[in-house]
Amino acid sequence: MDARQYAPATQRNRELILKVLSDNLTPTSNVLEIASGTGEHAVFFASRFKSWSWIPSDINPTARESIIAWKNASNLNNVALPLAIDVTQDNWIEQVEQRKIDVIVNINMIHISPWSACVGLMEGAAEILSPGGILYLYGPFKRNGKHTAISNAQFDRSLQDRNSTWGVRNLEMVVETANNAGLQLQQVIEMPANNLSVIFIKLD
Ligand SMILES: C[S@@+](CC[C@H](N)C(=O)[O-])C[C@H]1O[C@@H](n2cnc3c(N)ncnc32)[C@H](O)[C@@H]1O
Repeated sequence: MDARQYAPATQRNRELILKVLSDNLTPTSNVLEIASGTGEHAVFFASRFKSWSWIPSDINPTARESIIAWKNASNLNNVALPLAIDVTQDNWIEQVEQRKIDVIVNINMIHISPWSACVGLMEGAAEILSPGGILYLYGPFKRNGKHTAISNAQFDRSLQDRNSTWGVRNLEMVVETANNAGLQLQQVIEMPANNLSVIFIKLD
């Protein structure tokens, strides 16, 4: 049975995200992806930059099966088996063990999980990354407490109807949480469909 799952949004955003990543990652970056979902991004990015070493992960076992199926179908040797990471768990960084991670990538997760997932992501990233390491976030954000588009406000309402702990996050709160953890905002890049790329750097 083919366990590969498909998320159509990945086809629309992957080239744009790849451009930002390629501008900010070194050619030999070791990347930990949190919340890889289907695994389509992992194999796409790793196939374009074969010198990147990509470690996917997801909280969801079905997602991890899909990631394995995409990895196997791609024949890429720079994609690792997925880790079972839940960033709301205090000890999630233990999953990463002794691996050296230069970059943590997190696409479309912090609005589809409780706020504690954003906090856990920031705190774990600050512990895992060496000084100069990067945390990359992609997704919709409010700015100064306001939605940047009607479609984002509608999306926010639909998220909260599905789960009252979910919702489009306020960029300023995300930045404050990152700062408290020891990460500094480096760049905010406006992306199509009212999304942002947000790049943090680990301080010394
Ligand atoms: C909307 S999907 C995005 C998946 C993928 N990054 C993409 O862009 O297609 C959100 C993902 O976040 C994962 N997720 C939710 N809560 C999480 C948590 N606490 N820790 C890690 N992953 C989580 C889900 O299992 C799901 O795969």
